[in-house]
Amino acid sequence: MASFTFSFFFLTLLLLAVMTAVTPCPPSERAALLAFKAALTEPYLGIFNTWNGTDCCGTWYGIACDPTTGHVTDVNLRGESQDPMFQKLGRSGYMTGKISPEICTLSNLTSLVVADWKAISGDIPACVTSLSSLRLLDLAGNRLTGQIPTDIGNIWSLSVLSLADNEISGEIPTSIVNLARLMHLDLSNNHLSGEIPYDFGKLRMLSRALLSGNQLTGSVPKSVSKMNRLADLDVSLNRLTGFIPVKLGKMKVLSTLKLDGNSMTGPVPPTLLSNTGMGILNLSRNGFSGIIPDVFVADSYFMVLDLSFNNFSGRIPGSLSASKFMGHLDLSNNHLCGTIPIGSPFDHIDAASFSNNDCLCGNPLKTC
Ligand SMILES: *[C@@H]1O[C@H](CO)[C@@H](O)[C@H](O)[C@H]1NC(C)=O
Ligand SMILES: *[C@@H]1O[C@H](CO)[C@@H](O)[C@H](O)[C@H]1NC(C)=O
Ligand SMILES: *[C@@H]1O[C@H](CO)[C@@H](O)[C@H](O)[C@H]1NC(C)=O
Ligand SMILES: *[C@@H]1O[C@H](CO)[C@@H](O)[C@H](O)[C@H]1NC(C)=O
Repeated sequence: MASFTFSFFFLTLLLLAVMTAVTPCPPSERAALLAFKAALTEPYLGIFNTWNGTDCCGTWYGIACDPTTGHVTDVNLRGESQDPMFQKLGRSGYMTGKISPEICTLSNLTSLVVADWKAISGDIPACVTSLSSLRLLDLAGNRLTGQIPTDIGNIWSLSVLSLADNEISGEIPTSIVNLARLMHLDLSNNHLSGEIPYDFGKLRMLSRALLSGNQLTGSVPKSVSKMNRLADLDVSLNRLTGFIPVKLGKMKVLSTLKLDGNSMTGPVPPTLLSNTGMGILNLSRNGFSGIIPDVFVADSYFMVLDLSFNNFSGRIPGSLSASKFMGHLDLSNNHLCGTIPIGSPFDHIDAASFSNNDCLCGNPLKTC
């Protein structure tokens, strides 16, 4: 039995070794990679110097292939890397040029990462939406322009989409909500305009939605509250208006909510503040108004609670001082009045957190 297991194991190993050895990179895929390389210039590290010889699956930097079929599965080129090639030169990556549409002929690609090269320009090739095996598309940290391909929703296997830190404009394509497997979406720091699709909540697998630093208008879609896995929603620094959807406070795993730097109005849903899973809540620099609901509980644990630069009035809720932890509290620049509550969460908070209100008093401000 043992010897059978052993020989089976040995045979499997042998078979794997043989298969790896006899399946070099298909010539058409090698040609596609060379066309991709030809459209880019990487002057400092010399990563493309390794792209020589006939077997692109062997020594080519950033390229990986399926060991059985020999098809290229990964193009993984990151300008920020712990790789010795980067360490040796002590610098991060820099590349100019464009992303060639030839890359789309690598039909078995599961991972396309061309990120943090700072100066790659041009459009996202629209043909990437034909890469039906793609699970990871990361083109962040370049200087890409143009629009997100309209039919991005066709890449049904996509689980990570990052286009952050580019100069992409136009609207978020409505087809994006069809990415049923999407877990991580980062479109931060681009020039996106228009509204967040109203049925954004269809993205049921999404755990991080980062849309900060664009020119998005309209309101936070109500459907967001149906996203049972959403832990992190950052739509800060846009031009959003409207109210906070009341059901956002009932979301089970939402722990980071950044709505700061928009033009949103209306009250803060009490459930948002009583939700003990909420750890980072930034509503700063909007037009929120009404009282701060007195709903904090002993389990409230806020790393950040920033309500500054709004139109909140009334008193600072007494229950806030009963909360377990308050790392960074900012209630400045509102219309609050009355005595600052006493309690351990307030001990380390300095006067700036309460400044520019109508008539607050008590430690750390002047005595009442
Ligand atoms: C090909 O790349 C390898 C590194 O992968 C390098 O050692 C070799 O010098 C290169 N050959 C040519 C002809 O550039
Ligand atoms: C690789 O791509 C070809 C052509 O699109 C396709 O027929 C094949 O099913 C793919 N194989 C895998 C493992 O995805
Ligand atoms: C909250 O958002 C404001 C406005 O965008 C920003 O200036 C501030 O640093 C944020 N607060 C924290 C604690 O990160
Ligand atoms: C702030 O709230 C007051 C009422 O409390 C209202 O009269 C005023 O218009 C609001 N200001 C802004 C800028 O929303």
